[in-house]
Amino acid sequence: MIQNCIFLLNAGHETTTSLMANSVGTLLDNPDQHQRLLDEPELIASAVEEFLRVESPLQIGNRLAGEDITLSGGEVLPKGTYIHTSIAGANRDPAVFDDPGRVDIARKPNRHIAFITGIHVCLGATLARVEGRIALGRLVRRFPRLRANGPAQRMPLARFRGWSSLPVSVR
Ligand code: HEM
Repeated sequence: MIQNCIFLLNAGHETTTSLMANSVGTLLDNPDQHQRLLDEPELIASAVEEFLRVESPLQIGNRLAGEDITLSGGEVLPKGTYIHTSIAGANRDPAVFDDPGRVDIARKPNRHIAFITGIHVCLGATLARVEGRIALGRLVRRFPRLRANGPAQRMPLARFRGWSSLPVSVR
């Protein structure tokens, strides 16, 4: 029970908090996209998908091969292999995304895997998307003059991407 509570707190709180801060950071770094969101607020849903792609709150996943797995390139991972997956890398794969380093809040298609995919796809993906659309949409509309206001600091973590501090001015 305790392990499940810790897991749910990590899975549902830290990630969504980072989604908000990462989205704000991305808007501050991309004033053209910030202006576009102000001009076209109906883009909020697709903007949240783009922020999830370029600044995925969870960057790394782990898997243990339950059986021999043959990858599409022919390489075989024997049963028992411990696998590290790069969610962040997949979300900037040039074979999947056109100009992957560019932030485009209207990007379509946008088949990112910030919530991974398959049977263990994030249980809270729908909730996180709704939270992101409401919170970020309201923040941007309520404070159109949102600006960076002092030095920002990344969380010193590899698996989770977020900010320890991201000062902004709203006036
Ligand atoms: C932006 C916010 C979120 C992101 C980026 C995110 C990302 C992820 C990812 C990548 C996984 C797969 C991990 C793996 O198997 O290696 C996952 C699993 C999971 N997430 Fe989320 N998550 C978010 C929000 C939430 C919320 C709000 C909840 C619950 C309220 C939640 C609950 C879970 C649970 C229970 C799993 C495990 C699913 C399973 O193994 O079957 N997540 N999440």
